[in-house]
Amino acid sequence: MIDTRIDMNRIPRHIAIIMDGNGRWAMERGKERSYGHQAGVESVRKITSECTRLGVEYLTLYTFSTENWNRPADEVAALMGLVLSSLEDEIFMKNNVRFRVIGDIGRLPEAVRAKLHETMDHTKDNTAMTMVVALSYSSKWEITQAVRQIAAEVQQGKLNVDGIDENLVSSHMQTKFMPDPDLLIRTGGEVRISNYLLWQIAYSELYFCDTYWPDFDENCLHEAIASYQNRQRRFGKTEAQVENND
Ligand code: IPE
Ligand code: IPE
Ligand code: MG
Repeated sequence: MIDTRIDMNRIPRHIAIIMDGNGRWAMERGKERSYGHQAGVESVRKITSECTRLGVEYLTLYTFSTENWNRPADEVAALMGLVLSSLEDEIFMKNNVRFRVIGDIGRLPEAVRAKLHETMDHTKDNTAMTMVVALSYSSKWEITQAVRQIAAEVQQGKLNVDGIDENLVSSHMQTKFMPDPDLLIRTGGEVRISNYLLWQIAYSELYFCDTYWPDFDENCLHEAIASYQNRQRRFGKTEAQVENND
């Protein structure tokens, strides 16, 4: 399907998504919250293949935050089970997608960690798109880790304080292998960032929609991309400067 709203020559290189609203989607149907998470996996499949088709290079999905560890134990267990069962090679191999993970992986159950490593290994040579799952992730945690590493390198004499610049900080983030997001989408109606990629979204275009994640489909994605393409990214410059490529 060709969507005339979308300019295929200006597809965002990196899309990050806060996949929110699974619980409310399920509750509105009189079901358990985990039923919503299950339905959300189907949206991940759809959006992954559509992003690949559109030529998106990086798709970063907020799947489980550090703060989500505070949810009821049965919901956490259901989410871990779902991560485990949905990491099938098929989604990645069919779409030629490389899988990566960011977050405090050490806190995850051993079986989940093993599956993550296995999936990363199996898909490492895939080239169409990189799908990054943020698991047990929070941006403040990530930044704190980076600060610790940088401090240790200074202490060991490997680095001068003068050598600390924005590029060096970026290179100590878990996201160092990819460019910053061009477009950040949050589904589910909340207008907040919830500790996601704070450093990396400094100049991302933000898009919020009310649609619950299990209802987010190709059409919703196209709408988000069309909105992104209708904006002028100025990076601090004036409109005239951007138009004249100054
Ligand atoms: C997002 O959906 C998925 C996770 C946070 C794991 P929620 O579970 O937050 O759904 P709502 O926001 O309660 O509807
Ligand atoms: C953010 O959603 C985390 C993920 C989507 C994984 P939450 O539902 O946990 O966010 P808050 O707590 O409502 O801000
Ligand atoms: Mg939520």
